[in-house]
Amino acid sequence: MTLIKENTAVQEMYASLKAKLHDVVPDFELRYKAELAVEINRLKVERNAVILGHNYMEPALFHSIPDFVGDSLELSRKAAQTDKDVIVFCGVEFMAETAKILNPSKTVLLPAEKAGCSLAASITAEDVRRLKAQYPGVPVVTYINTYADVKAECDICCTSGNAVAVVNSLDAERIIFIPDEYLARNVAAETGKKIIVPSLQSNIGLEGVDSYDFIGWHGRCEVHEKFTVEDIRNVRAQFPDVYILAHPECSPDVVAASDFSGSTTAMIRKVEASHAPRFLLLTECSMGDNIMGANPDKEMLRLCSVRCPHMNQITLEDTLASLEKMQYEIHVPEEIRVRAARAVQRMIEIG
Ligand code: 13P
Ligand code: SF4
Repeated sequence: MTLIKENTAVQEMYASLKAKLHDVVPDFELRYKAELAVEINRLKVERNAVILGHNYMEPALFHSIPDFVGDSLELSRKAAQTDKDVIVFCGVEFMAETAKILNPSKTVLLPAEKAGCSLAASITAEDVRRLKAQYPGVPVVTYINTYADVKAECDICCTSGNAVAVVNSLDAERIIFIPDEYLARNVAAETGKKIIVPSLQSNIGLEGVDSYDFIGWHGRCEVHEKFTVEDIRNVRAQFPDVYILAHPECSPDVVAASDFSGSTTAMIRKVEASHAPRFLLLTECSMGDNIMGANPDKEMLRLCSVRCPHMNQITLEDTLASLEKMQYEIHVPEEIRVRAARAVQRMIEIG
């Protein structure tokens, strides 16, 4: 870590970060991060860039450099609307790719070379083509946590913030819903649909099953699949007045045992609007710190053994290097981009 430069912009940034994060980040680290953030913000102007930050970014980054923070849906909208030359996406690769799909004339940068996602890695374009051959004419809904070539094979995209609205917008008896098994099961439960998840080997387990509305896939979020009903029982035993919020990438049992389920931004809004004495978020654990930074009166319990290794790739140091060296640029072949854009645009129109 370098010594802090005594200039006004750094002092102001340090004071603003300290006001929000004094309980979360040690002081010497805040000073160092304030210096990095000021340099990033200076370069951002020089490059005519916009910085988009997902709700899972680490607290000092989240509260210093993004022009906009939000969930996947909100950030897709901001990416589509920006007139800046450069979009720096502080999130993971599928999010940066979605920005490029929606706004192809811009230079889109992801600060870390490898910031993937277990859901996006769980399915290929060839898998989707096979599913479509197996269930001809059945529309395919893809969660936004997929890569561009997979989106290009699908009819419509959705996020955790609009999955139910997207499903309800389709006039279809059956739907293929990929790749998150748990999100598909949660949406099926909420919309009163019956779901099957075919095994990887042919139709094992489907013999005799003829009435179903959703065909799912076996993808899982490596973070959210770790939360269990046992965790919830243990926390409620110790803190009976806790209000528990679960992301819909958690298992249906965990969602059912929680008090609320919604996208990352929906969870933040719920905490801000609620007067519960304490909260437990079943999601990536930086978000609890970010909420506390903006709302010091909220008491957040932490299950911080659970972090997203991909979101955690994005640091202030790498974001600075990204703007200095204009790395790592996202490219999507035009033929794939055009087809993927149809699915994403169709979702954006729904809301
Ligand atoms: P949101 O769209 O709710 O922000 O979720 C993105 C994500 O990857 C959650 O794990
Ligand atoms: Fe992917 Fe899960 Fe990380 Fe979200 S939290 S980016 S779904 S691995």
